[in-house]
Amino acid sequence: MLLRAVTEDDRDDILLWRNDPVTRAMSRIHDPVATINHQTWFARMLIDPGQLMVMAIEDDRKIGVVRFSQDKNCWEVGINLNPVERGHGMGHTVLAQAIDYFWKFYPKSPLRAIIRPDNKASHKIFTSCGFEWIDRSLDHDHLEAYNPGERRD
Ligand SMILES: CC(C)(COP(=O)(O)OP(=O)(O)OC[C@H]1O[C@@H](n2cnc3c(N)ncnc32)[C@H](O)[C@@H]1OP(=O)(O)O)[C@@H](O)C(=O)NCCC(=O)NCCS
Repeated sequence: MLLRAVTEDDRDDILLWRNDPVTRAMSRIHDPVATINHQTWFARMLIDPGQLMVMAIEDDRKIGVVRFSQDKNCWEVGINLNPVERGHGMGHTVLAQAIDYFWKFYPKSPLRAIIRPDNKASHKIFTSCGFEWIDRSLDHDHLEAYNPGERRD
């Protein structure tokens, strides 16, 4: 699998995947993102030093993205696979390799993830990448997991 930072060419795929019904159901904000809002956000994200978005590619197929957003002393991480690539066990590899890619730029930076309790596939892949559940809910709909900066498989 090849990992690279996203480029302008990925913008429309990322919007399509973000507005997929499953992704919306699993997101903190369920509404679809309007194209113009996405384009503005994406242009800013590309030049923001507090954001890194990584695209995973296999056999010329875009498998999914992992986004790292700086938040005080920690980076929040989220994953979204291309809908046609879900359910085939790719999520773990994408997340693990994206974290390794991120740590090359920000060695051993701690990571947090915010995940809905019913998102079993996401729980499994984050746990398998060394995240541990924090013993408190962020709100009624989400749980928080933490990786101190050293992934364990
Ligand atoms: C969540 C996501 C990244 C998971 O990646 P994936 O490749 O589709 O995951 P898989 O379907 O292979 O499932 C991963 C693991 O969870 C298990 N799993 C999946 N659904 C499950 C369920 N309902 N109950 C228990 N285990 C489940 C799978 O068996 C697999 O386990 P294994 O590694 O031991 O085989 C991907 O589906 C996705 O992008 N979803 C939409 C966006 C999203 O929810 N992002 C996460 C928000 S942080």
